[in-house]
Amino acid sequence: MTPIENLWQRGYGRLGKLLSRKEAEQIRSLYEDPGTFRSRIDMARYRFGRGEYQYFAYPLPDRIDRLRHELYGQLSPVAAEWMAALSKETCYPVELDAFLDECHDGGQERPTPLLLRYREGDFNCLHQDLYGDIVFPFQVVIALSRPDEEYSGGELLLVEQQPRAQSVGHAIRLEQGEAVVITTRYRPVKGSRGYYRTNMRHGVSPLISGERHTLGIIFHDAT
Ligand SMILES: [Fe+2]
Repeated sequence: MTPIENLWQRGYGRLGKLLSRKEAEQIRSLYEDPGTFRSRIDMARYRFGRGEYQYFAYPLPDRIDRLRHELYGQLSPVAAEWMAALSKETCYPVELDAFLDECHDGGQERPTPLLLRYREGDFNCLHQDLYGDIVFPFQVVIALSRPDEEYSGGELLLVEQQPRAQSVGHAIRLEQGEAVVITTRYRPVKGSRGYYRTNMRHGVSPLISGERHTLGIIFHDAT
């Protein structure tokens, strides 16, 4: 199956390795450069989990800005198909800049791409990254650390709440530089009378050892 077919079937699709080891390590080294970010979140303080992450400031680092544009361009036609399947009238522009103009006009002006850092015992509770009324239905996670060599535990988790049934969980191990696209909040599922939707949340299982950095590319901006 292609990544997009997997996205339809399971709510996520592996996109393969998008960053070389050198690029992944260069991006994660930005974590220590406070001028790159607009804010730092201590997850325990908000009871989001344990560990921390930082939101990039505009202008985004060039490599991340290019990835955000390229990935949006690949995903915007799929977003239109999802909205059609769910009989929603939401339209998504073909290009990221036009979509961001809509976000900014709607008061969502702050950048949302983020760098996350987990250390031993850190985790991220199941959640959805919604920052206002304007929501792009997909987001991308890119691993910046090497599993087993640099950390253990810390799988990306995706849980689908099925209507009138128990939830399905996916644990996703990512190699360094590997990207996965996940649904932001739900997935259209084909039933006997057309599509219905299942709610999906994501998180990270507790790190058993080491340190794990991840790049999160969210397409809608925040209020
Ligand atoms: Fe998230």
